[in-house]
Amino acid sequence: MNPKLQFTQNLIKKAGQLIVEMQKEAKASYKSAKDVVTEADLASEKLIVEAIKKEHPNDHIISEENYSDFELTNERFWVIDPIDGTVNYSRGTPLYGISIALIENKELILGVIYLPKLNELYWAEKGTGAFCNNEPIHVSGIDELNKSIVSGEDFNCGQKENLNNQRQLQQLTNLANETMRVHIVGSAVVGATFVASGKVEGKISSGFFWDIAAAKIIVEEAGGKVTKKDGSPYDPKKRDTVLSNGRIHQELLDVLA
Ligand code: IPD
Ligand code: CA
Repeated sequence: MNPKLQFTQNLIKKAGQLIVEMQKEAKASYKSAKDVVTEADLASEKLIVEAIKKEHPNDHIISEENYSDFELTNERFWVIDPIDGTVNYSRGTPLYGISIALIENKELILGVIYLPKLNELYWAEKGTGAFCNNEPIHVSGIDELNKSIVSGEDFNCGQKENLNNQRQLQQLTNLANETMRVHIVGSAVVGATFVASGKVEGKISSGFFWDIAAAKIIVEEAGGKVTKKDGSPYDPKKRDTVLSNGRIHQELLDVLA
């Protein structure tokens, strides 16, 4: 196994064990009206960042809590969300995860997502397919939006104080009318693993780069597609992402247009 993949898997499992141990006790504080951070987010970030700095001292770090400003260059960047789904985590639900991705020459080359309470470790490397707990995974074969489940993570407000009124309300109405089900699971990475493993067909997200980086390579390596809502290539600086099984991608973009 690629030593960087092995290193990342070991590290993410260690961080996963830590946050599970801390879940009952970790104090949460408000970052903004609709966003919280817990002691466990900070502890997980510290553990991951320290290990990367020790093993790869010349690499750069992008991470949600203390390393969120970034400008990608051709050097190596580790992109980390120490807990994705912190609100879920702080309320005792199992729907949260940790995400670590590696970028070289501005290209994603490795992504690992760990859902410690669900005991699921997802990963992908460029060109080698996607896996969950050592089994290959694939996006679903469903090719009609009206038979699809779509994760509407975009509609839970997140860091935004309110939905963008009429436009988003119309998008949500269209999505509800045109799909089989709309999920809002409260964690970008959980929703993305559902797409990658064929449990749902699509996901729209206003997540940051650290929410999307590992998810993007895992979904693509599982056979799916990731773009902005207008169909143009994914942009790490824009909080505007659609991930899908590819087959319903255009229909989904049309509903959001
Ligand atoms: C958030 C969650 C949420 C999504 C937000 C994310 P966090 O991540 O994934 O479901 O709607 O866009 O920022 O704050 O829990 O890491
Ligand atoms: Ca987070």
